[in-house]
Amino acid sequence: MGNMSPEHIIGDYTEYVLQHFNSEPRTIYVSKIETPFPAGKLIVSRTDLAGNITHMNQAFIDMSGYSEAELIGQPHAILRHPDMPKAVFKEIWDTASEGNKWHGYVKNLRKDGGFYWVHATVIANIRNGEMMGLSSVRRQASMSKIAESEALYRKMLEQEQS
Ligand SMILES: Cc1cc2nc3c(=O)[nH]c(=O)nc-3n(C[C@H](O)[C@H](O)[C@H](O)COP(=O)(O)O)c2cc1C
Repeated sequence: MGNMSPEHIIGDYTEYVLQHFNSEPRTIYVSKIETPFPAGKLIVSRTDLAGNITHMNQAFIDMSGYSEAELIGQPHAILRHPDMPKAVFKEIWDTASEGNKWHGYVKNLRKDGGFYWVHATVIANIRNGEMMGLSSVRRQASMSKIAESEALYRKMLEQEQS
């Protein structure tokens, strides 16, 4: 997962450096341009146990702005947006690792610096009692849930950074 490239960014942007759990710090460029969720579609991906992307559908590729080749094998954190608190991702991993389904709201970062909100579920793929990987299916998030999540995540981020 390399740094983002300013030449791929659309519009005005702000630079951030994200510290990742399992990879090098990454320079990202973030605009305020929202891409609406594709009506009637589901955005689907699967990861291995380390959170590296192993499968995805076309809607996932289209919304990320990356090509399939750029996504396969990359940490799912390639879509991490700086407005997302770390605690949300910890809750995703803790819940799914215990065999439970997590659902909640995620703001994702696109290759072009823009963002999109999703209502995501994450669940472990368990075969013969063994965890093989994880899956996520994302639906459109309502405007009210997006507004609620924005306010909550802003508070959580402030706490994490204080
Ligand atoms: C199946 C699955 C799907 C995930 N989808 C996303 C996603 O869409 N966006 C995202 O930022 N993180 C997603 N994550 C969480 C990432 O694995 C990671 O925890 C998060 O991006 C923060 O990574 P970092 O701590 O390495 O920066 C997903 C995890 C799993 C298991």
